Amino acid sequence: MRADSRKNMALRIDILTLFPEMFTPVLGTSIPKRAAEKGLVSYHLTNIRDFATDNHKSVDDKPFGGGPGMVMMCQVLFDAVAKVEAEDDRPARRIILSPQGKPLTQALAQELAAEKRILMIAGHYEGFDERIIDGLKPMELSIGDYVLSGGELAAMVVVDTIVRLLPGALGAEDGAADETFADGLLEYPQYTRPREFGQMVVPEVLLSGDHRKIAQWRHEQRMLRTRERRPDLWQEYLQRNPDALEPKKKKR
Ligand code: ADE
Repeated sequence: MRADSRKNMALRIDILTLFPEMFTPVLGTSIPKRAAEKGLVSYHLTNIRDFATDNHKSVDDKPFGGGPGMVMMCQVLFDAVAKVEAEDDRPARRIILSPQGKPLTQALAQELAAEKRILMIAGHYEGFDERIIDGLKPMELSIGDYVLSGGELAAMVVVDTIVRLLPGALGAEDGAADETFADGLLEYPQYTRPREFGQMVVPEVLLSGDHRKIAQWRHEQRMLRTRERRPDLWQEYLQRNPDALEPKKKKR
């Protein structure tokens, strides 16, 4: 396939941020870097501050009604989004990173990986003027129930989670893109050389060469782990797989 025809198929990710330099090392390393080199994705960083119109280059102001912190202002973001969206015909799926958002899950990442274009807004300070949400109607997305000092790290998490799902992003050596969480179970334990490390030995079954037995053991381990560590996921799994036998606890 020619490079220019591949380019049209590439997922375009726009990131609007006050700290574009934070993204450079992450997008330029490992899978995110390789996916861009393979033409599966392109990254476009925009500094929100470039859209400030006053002498102080202000992007935030004190909240009406008082209270701590600063709030991101409407004008810079509306202007930045309009300029960036006009750079490409494809409509963008707009996302704002926020602890108030919908939780990021593997299923949501899969949905986002099927988009042609994603525009992410990473804010800093106490939050956004609510009219940014009302006007731009982005999906608010959270990476977990904790508060970061800005949306940048969250945006990087979202990019990494999506990009590794793009067909062709992972080499065979990185494992299947659809393994962990794809069926709602945690991963099974892995071992490599040596067979014995001090007193700790690799489970016998993995050395047996019996692939059916190995697959059975691994599935059982996934169920045991999920039941022990994530009862919430285990209950959901049981709902979808009512025939899944409650696994008996076994020594490894
Ligand atoms: N910004 C601050 N905290 C965040 C979180 N947990 N998820 C997404 N964006 C955030």
